[in-house]
This record gives sequence, C-alpha cells and structure tokens, in this order.
Amino acid sequence: MKILVTGGLGFIGSHTVVELQNEGYEVVIIDDCSNADEKVLDGIETITGKRPLFEKIDLKEKAKVEDFFKRYQDVEGVIHFAASKAVGESVVKPLLYYENNIGTLVYLLKELAKKNKASVIFSSSCTVYGQADEMPITESAPVKTAESPYGNTKQMGEEIIFDTCKVTPSLNAIALRYFNPMGAHPSVEIGELPVGVPQNLVPFITQTGMGLRNELSVFGDDYPTPDGTAVRDYIYVVDLAKAHVLALKRLIEGKNEENYEVFNVGTGKGSSVLEVIQSFERVSGKKLNYKIVPRRAGDITTAYADTTKANEVLGWKSQYSLDEAMKSAWDWEQKIRS
Ligand code: WQD
Repeated sequence: MKILVTGGLGFIGSHTVVELQNEGYEVVIIDDCSNADEKVLDGIETITGKRPLFEKIDLKEKAKVEDFFKRYQDVEGVIHFAASKAVGESVVKPLLYYENNIGTLVYLLKELAKKNKASVIFSSSCTVYGQADEMPITESAPVKTAESPYGNTKQMGEEIIFDTCKVTPSLNAIALRYFNPMGAHPSVEIGELPVGVPQNLVPFITQTGMGLRNELSVFGDDYPTPDGTAVRDYIYVVDLAKAHVLALKRLIEGKNEENYEVFNVGTGKGSSVLEVIQSFERVSGKKLNYKIVPRRAGDITTAYADTTKANEVLGWKSQYSLDEAMKSAWDWEQKIRS
C-alpha cells in the first residue's frame, strides 16, 4: 500500500513524509513545484535513508490526475497539502485560489471515490473559526464567515469532503485544523523556505535575526491582550507532522467513529507576538530589531486550541516548547544562509 502526499515538497508536507517513512509507510509525492523545490527530496532521503517516489504533476490538470491513479492503483491513503496558502495574495487573486485549492480537491476526490477503500487527511486551518468567541477553541466552535478567499477555500474544502463522505461509504476523511505551524526538522535538512518576503511571523523573525531584513514590523500593540500584541498557538512542525500519521493510522485501521472527523492541532497554549520575539532572543542570544506599526487588516486578536479531542481521541499531544521550536527555526535559518 502506498500513501500519496500532495504538496509533499512543501513545509508541512515534507516533514509529514519523513514521519510517514519513519513509521514504515511507502510514500509517493505529487507536487507541482510552484512553491517548493525538488531538492527537498534530498533532504528527506538524508533524514530517513529512503527517497520517496515523486511525480511532478499540477493537480489542476484533470487528465494527469486520472492518469496518476491508473498508474498507482495501490494508493489507499492520501494526505492532501497541495494548495495556495498566502492570505493576502488570495484577496487580490481569488480565482487562482478557488481553482487551485478547490478544483484540484474535486479531481482528487473523484478518483478516490472510485476505490474500494480510501482514507484522506485534509490540511485545514484554525482560520475557519475567524475570531472565535471563546478560548481555548474547541472543534464545536462555530465556523465563521471567512475573512479571505484562502480561509474560504479551507471551509469549502471541509464541506466538499464532508458531503462526499456522506454518500461514499468507502471514503473516510479527517480534517486537521492547524494553528500556527513553525520551526524545522532537528536535522536541519528540511524546514520552511518562504518565497520572497515572509508573510508569517517566525520566518520574518529569523530572517531579521540573520540581517536579511532590517527590522520586524509588529502589527499592532493595541489588542485587548496582556501585552497588547496578538496571541496565537505556535505548533512545532514535527509535532504537527506526527498528528497526520496518527490521523491516517486511525482511518486505515478503521478506528474512526464517523467517516468524516475534525481535530484541532495546536499546543493549547497562546503566545503573543512579543513573547515569540522574546523566545527568539532567548534561543539566539541576539536582540531582535523591531518596531510597532498599525494592525494588519484581517488579523484576529487571539486564537489557541483546546486540544482535548486530539489528545484523547487521536492519542496525540504536542511535545515541544515554543523555545525548542524557535531554536529549530533559528538553526535552520543559519544553515540555509551559511
Ligand atoms: C502571526 C501573528 C500577525 C508577521 C496565517 C493564516 C493561517 C496559516 C498561518 C497558512 C499575527 C503577527 C506577523 C509580521 C507581525 N496560514 N505578525 N509581523 O496570520 O496567525 O495565520 O498564517 O497555512 O491560516 O491565517 O500567522 O504568522 O502571519 O501572524 O506582527 O511580520 O504575528 O499580526 O498576530 P496568522 P502570521
């Protein structure tokens, strides 16, 4: 049996491939290399000693997707990461996001629905909650109107999978709602490789620490939080990757109670922007150059996960602290710039 990882050359995808291989799964990656480099395969092979199979396919090409599943009849599980994921870009290019994130999901599900049995893990996001009313956020918190087409594609993706599973008993799915992924593999062989100016906080911090950026702009210190800066749940990417393997196992072994389930994947702890900066300063021994600027449009004040369901049902719990995750991000930044 093979496991297909779409977007498997990407940040979370590549770390998940490593954990799948560590668990003995045979992996085939589909990636269109629009936001990742084939060299990531070398990093994965260096870590695990096994080079995953790789197919450079754009999932928007329906005929190519059909052909892939004809050639790989033994794919029974799919972890679907492939998608565009820049919140700001999605606002100015909505159709690119709906075509790339939704059209491709439909083609994938059509092929999987033909199989006698298929398990799908869907890369979703806490962004579906918008600004949740209560903290910590549970899976039963209401899904709110998305603030961006990117966030909308995650909500729609969940609904499309739910509707399909309802009428396809052979198809079982789990959506994992990530909080804020960060860090890099401890081997420093794979990590986050943002293209251009990083949108996310942690890579911007480590690039500033390396002198690639002059200073970090802190988007607002007038939020109703303890230190005025926005609070998020920063989850170490290796912890997050392990959650995917456990979710896949749950489906393959038929342990799921419904044929569509949702889990929040976070640490359960909130950290403010200033606390993340202080974490960087502790692990690097460097002072970070930053300035406070007005809030970024679309940002929410606070989000951190209630991880009870993942802990008790999935048997997963994050193991690494913010400082350990930040140390891995800093080690990685120094390595790729050396
Ligand atoms: C975190 C905090 C910013 C950059 C988004 C998506 C989510 C997922 C992760 C893809 C916020 C502040 C940031 C900077 C700053 N995306 N910040 N200066 O917005 O919580 O989540 O990325 O999978 O779906 O919604 O993450 O890292 O952009 O921001 O002050 O230069 O850091 O305002 O409070 P976010 P982020």
